Amino acid sequence: MNETPNDLIVRKGEVICHSQDLENNQAKRFQVRCSDINSFPGMNADPEDYLPAFVLRKNQLIVAYLNRCAHLPMEMDWNPSEFFDEGFNHIVCATHYAVYEIETGNCLRGPCPKGAKLIPLAIKTVAEEIIFLGSKND
Ligand code: FES
Repeated sequence: MNETPNDLIVRKGEVICHSQDLENNQAKRFQVRCSDINSFPGMNADPEDYLPAFVLRKNQLIVAYLNRCAHLPMEMDWNPSEFFDEGFNHIVCATHYAVYEIETGNCLRGPCPKGAKLIPLAIKTVAEEIIFLGSKND
């Protein structure tokens, strides 16, 4: 929803950012190539296209999701890389205020269909670098 043409493009196996550059209650946008993730319902992008994503830290937890609301396929940040509610306890979509659990991406409240969730991305931290690993298979 926001103009952020300068998002870092991160291919599978590449570094998103240094973990010290992602402070508590902070998120960072990036973009993934469609061919680096599994397809999902409603994904109608070319494998060469890119999709917006974000990585987010809550205390020791670091998670990453596609930046795509489960209500409508829209980006969710209020301002670039701002995804939290006021108390930094949930991810909230800026368009119609769907509320998501940080740990799971499950939609807790709002206009999402029942059982809807964000699309998680796999990451790992190695030598304090956060690396994108592709889709997360739950
Ligand atoms: S587009 Fe996110 S709640 Fe509607």
